[in-house]
Order: sequence, then structure tokens, then C-alpha cells
Amino acid sequence: MTAKGFQQGFTSLNRETHYEALPVRGSIPPWLSGTLIRNGPAKFDVGSETVHHWFDGFAMLHAFTFRHGAVAYTNRFLRSKSYSEAARTGKLSFSAFAADPCRVIFSRFFSVLFAHADNANVNIARIADRFVALTETPLPIEFNPRTLETIGPFVYDDRLAGSLTSAHPLYDPTNNAAINYTLRFNIVSSYHVYMTRGRRRKRIGVLPVAEPAYMHSFAATTRYVILAEFPFMVHPVKFLLTGKPFIENFRWRPERGTRFLVFDKECQEPMQVYESEAFFSFHHVNAYENDAGLVLDCVAYPDPSIIHQLYLHRVREAEQMPTGILRRYHLPRNGGKVRSEQLASAGLELPQINESQARSRPYRFAYGVGADQPINFLNHLVKVDVERGERQVWSEAGCFPGEPVFVPTPGGQREDDGVLLSVVLDAERGTSFLLVLDAASFTELGRAEVPHHIPFGFHGFFFNDV
Ligand code: CO
Repeated sequence: MTAKGFQQGFTSLNRETHYEALPVRGSIPPWLSGTLIRNGPAKFDVGSETVHHWFDGFAMLHAFTFRHGAVAYTNRFLRSKSYSEAARTGKLSFSAFAADPCRVIFSRFFSVLFAHADNANVNIARIADRFVALTETPLPIEFNPRTLETIGPFVYDDRLAGSLTSAHPLYDPTNNAAINYTLRFNIVSSYHVYMTRGRRRKRIGVLPVAEPAYMHSFAATTRYVILAEFPFMVHPVKFLLTGKPFIENFRWRPERGTRFLVFDKECQEPMQVYESEAFFSFHHVNAYENDAGLVLDCVAYPDPSIIHQLYLHRVREAEQMPTGILRRYHLPRNGGKVRSEQLASAGLELPQINESQARSRPYRFAYGVGADQPINFLNHLVKVDVERGERQVWSEAGCFPGEPVFVPTPGGQREDDGVLLSVVLDAERGTSFLLVLDAASFTELGRAEVPHHIPFGFHGFFFNDV
């Protein structure tokens, strides 16, 4: 491997392996039983070509299975059509986030354009008791959670068409359903918010939009779904004609401000729209209702320049990059002016919470990856007390952690009773390890060492029955 430092996290891992028991240092809590499945790009080079953007690497699934303090590890590439085609031809020929569009401009319809972009490298979910890899095209790919073998496209049993979606569905315990939205490109485009039960999606709100925005995730309270529509917008017809890579068609229009589009899950009441200053975000952290209205927390950036900062040639050159800040937006109950505040001074990304206790409720702790300025890449794990603005940090020299997934201690009472699981790149050794951190004290309990590096991934999910 020629790359040094954190840049190793942006180099390909071509090997598919299975280890029954990784070497463990420290101790893994014996109560921790289940499988963490993570998703992320792992192959950046095909033949003599390299993908342009981090987000365009081919998806690899990683499974860490915990039983009685031991940890097994398996990894497999997702056999999407685009992966198989690249493997067969030795060429990059499919449309992706920032990929070469030369094939795409001859496709007259978006359905055709995106039908090929099935490289589901962003997240993992369980839909209709199937395990699927997700990306921002509505084309989930099903896999076997034990072997990580690809089963094939997951097909919904409905006619809800869309061109783009979010890879961050939210579970709605009231309705035992998953909430998500899809953007339908057309002469008049529209956002469709829906609930998934089994294989069927039921639409709960629709809004026509002249120039749709790029929205990576969204928020939900017990009753409402909130799309934060940042002014990073695309003109659908121009999109068809320019032939530019997907994300380069979006334009930053700060003069338009950010709109919060509020949909009611329980009835078809008219939606409420709030406006605030322009900002950009990938990730919402949490949202809830209180007497004053709606509260929405997200990781905010002043503009979307972070997307351009994540082109491979830029991250590999270790340019400085912007850091997201945890911000809270207050949407007053009967309309009116949106107020916002910064919840912590330190940066945060890939935010996580204790889903079972904190989702859609007033809460105290957000976890994520962070780095102190000036930064070139995220180099610590952070726990933010959103009530007090205080933080705790875990870091180790030369180590670069990924998204920390929270697993609650069985019977735990406090919100931070549990562990955080994070895949960490040890750049000195050129290998990665799975770190188990006590969420309350923010100290290491143990680690399981993988004999090779794991490229930086995006998101994962812990399943206690796998
Ligand atoms: Co994401």
C-alpha cells in the first residue's frame, strides 16, 4: 500500500475474507450478542480507471459478530449490476454520484439513468424482514446477513415511482413502519413522503417543487416528518441536457434560504412550511415535539463545499476540510420565525443516538466522529451533551475512527448505558480494528483487530438477532 496516514482509508480493499475469531485486546462485554453490519465504498480502482468521488467507490459489506466476548469478521463486495459489470469489463461504465456521464447522456429518462446506479454503498436496513443495502437511488439490494452474499434487487409491491431517495429511513414505532421520502423528477418534480409496511409504501404527503434539492436525510418526530430543504438545487430539464456528473448539476442558491417542510403523519392536513437562513447538512441527529413547537437537531455546514472536498484527489492530498457543527432549529407551533442555536462548539459528523431511548424525544447525548480545527480528516470519537454543551473525546495517535453505533446495555436505565462500536483505521500499522467503547465513561473496553485495513465507510446497523 503506497498511501500513508489517513489516506489509506481511501484506498481499495480487494480481499474478501472470513475470520472466526479476531484477536481481542481488552475485553468485549459478554452481554454484547449480535452482528454489526457496515456498508461503505471499498473499491475505487477498476482497470486503469479510478472513481472520482469517495461516494462512488463500490459497496462492500462488513459484518462483526459478537458472541461471549469473541468477535468474528466477514466482508463481501455487494454484487450490484454496476459492480458485476465493472468486474466483467474492467471498466467503469455506470452512472454514479460524480461519475463520468458519457453513457448517461444518451439515456432519455431518469428511470433509465438511475436504474444502473445500484451501487448501494451508503447504509443498511431491514425491510419486510429482509436485509438490504441502501443508496440514494430507490434500488435496495438484498443480502444474506450471515454470509453477506448478495441475493439481488429488493422489489416493492407497489407503484410509488421515484428517482432519488434517502439512504436514512427512520423507524416509526407508533406505526411499526419505516418512514422515507422519494423525489420524482419530471416537468414538475415532487417530493413524496411515505411509510413502508411489509413491501408496500403508503404515501403520506406530496409537494410539487420546481427545482428540487439534494437531501441526504430527514427528520421525524412522533407525529411529523420534516424535510429540511437546503438551497442546493437542481433544474431537472437542464440536468438532462448538461451531461455533467450527478452532483455537479446541483447549484448553491443561498439567497433562497432553507425551507423546513413539515408533513403530518396522522392526517392529510396541509403541510406547514418554515424558512430560515441558508445552510447545508447531510445528517439529522434527532427531532421532537415540545409545547413551543418542533425541535430539530442536525449537523450543519455554512454551504455544501464539503461535497467537493470529498473528491478522491482532494482527500488524498489531505486538503483541509470544513467541519459540521451540531445546530438546533426551533420551529414555532403556529408558524413564525425559525430560531437556531449551536449546541456544541466542537465539530461532529456521522451522528448517532441511543435509538431505543432517545429517538423523537428530548434527549441528552449525541455521538459521532470529530476533529479539532484545523483538520484534514476526522480523528476522534466524540460524545456531546446537548443540554450542557459539554463533550467527551476518545482518540489515539494515528487512528481514524468511523461512525460509532450505539448498542444499549440490556435493562440499562440511563440514556448512555451501552457501548459504541466503531471501525478504526490505525494508520501507523496499516490495519483496522473494531473498537468497543463504554458510552457512559467514554473509555475503551476492548478491541478486535482485523489483519488488514478497512476503507472508511459510511453507515451501519447492529442487529441483536443475527
Ligand atoms: Co449518511
